[in-house]
Amino acid sequence: MVKVAIAGASGYTGLELLRLLTIHPEVEITTVTSEKHQGQKVADVFPSFSGFSDLQFTSLTVSIANECDILFLALPHTTAMNQVPDFLEGSCRVVDLSADYRLKSQETFEQWYSFSHQQKETLDKAVYGLPELHRKSIRSAKLVANPGCYPTSVILALAPLVATDWVDLESIIADSKSGVSGAGRKLSINTQFAECNEAVSAYALGTHRHTPEIEQEISALAGREIRVTFSPHLMPMTRGLLSTIYINLTKDMELEELGKHYREFYKNEPFVRILNLGTFANTHYVVSSNFCDIGLQIDSRNRRIIITSAIDNLVKGAAGQAIQNMNIMLGIDEKTALDSPGMFP
Ligand SMILES: NC(=O)c1ccc[n+]([C@@H]2O[C@H](COP(=O)([O-])OP(=O)(O)OC[C@H]3O[C@@H](n4cnc5c(N)ncnc54)[C@H](OP(=O)(O)O)[C@@H]3O)[C@@H](O)[C@H]2O)c1
Repeated sequence: MVKVAIAGASGYTGLELLRLLTIHPEVEITTVTSEKHQGQKVADVFPSFSGFSDLQFTSLTVSIANECDILFLALPHTTAMNQVPDFLEGSCRVVDLSADYRLKSQETFEQWYSFSHQQKETLDKAVYGLPELHRKSIRSAKLVANPGCYPTSVILALAPLVATDWVDLESIIADSKSGVSGAGRKLSINTQFAECNEAVSAYALGTHRHTPEIEQEISALAGREIRVTFSPHLMPMTRGLLSTIYINLTKDMELEELGKHYREFYKNEPFVRILNLGTFANTHYVVSSNFCDIGLQIDSRNRRIIITSAIDNLVKGAAGQAIQNMNIMLGIDEKTALDSPGMFP
């Protein structure tokens, strides 16, 4: 059995890791951390684990890495950044769900996160954990930087187009909507019930930290620097994330040709579903699953492609993708513990 530890197991992504790993046949969870709940049993704090887990929360220390083969970091960004080189000293491999090692450029990280990145050497070794684009590097990676939720939906939606000469890559607009769990379990005014229920609001327009992550991956695919306009919104729902992406066409084309191209691009991908033409992505059908559903349309009047892309922010946008990465790192079936449909209704 592979020994796994989860740092930040009392948070939304940590709990989702715990839930999915509990049914993983090749994994034994050895350690779960929470500062607030250290010493308490997981099942006492979260009764959904009653009968499934005898584990007790412990405090996070560097020695956690000595007790496991894979360490998941489900912590707020910058919390464990400076401990990661120590975690990697021995044989332990790390999947970091925070943004600390996602951006290749130290300067870009510092600019968007207003935090000095002291771990350049480790940053250089990190692999961006989007399996559909980086599976080969993930296999042997010591440190995987698990993508952000918004970037997962936007990059997967755009990747098939970037290599073509059908579109104007300078014209990308990504309009995304996320459920409230995207902000994590910590208390904040904006995510309190009375603030976000019965309301839809835009936030961080032009300044959201996921923008450089999207640009990094799209630019790498394009082979030149690409900028995107990214507009996130908060929706009054618990889970789920939908991105609607607009990009100008540089030639006339039929929807059938676009659909064929997307199907071909993702034909070997177990977790990307290209929807039937005329059907658009809906968070209802991906919640609780590791799928990314992509729907396509051509607005021929305006010569524009419109792509819809839906994921569960806590699964394909976080814990599910992290487990998919772990499965790839271990050389086992990538779908293990993840091969199930969404929960509807
Ligand atoms: N939520 C999402 O949809 C999503 C999607 C993709 C990526 N992410 C990223 O995943 C990471 C975790 O997000 P989340 O939504 O799960 O956050 P969360 O619900 O707020 O949970 C944070 C976890 O970190 C622990 N923690 C907080 N401060 C700590 C400290 N100083 N030392 C040790 N442990 C500490 C908390 O434990 P205690 O409070 O119990 O001590 C809790 O277990 C973040 O970096 C986030 O950006 C989140």
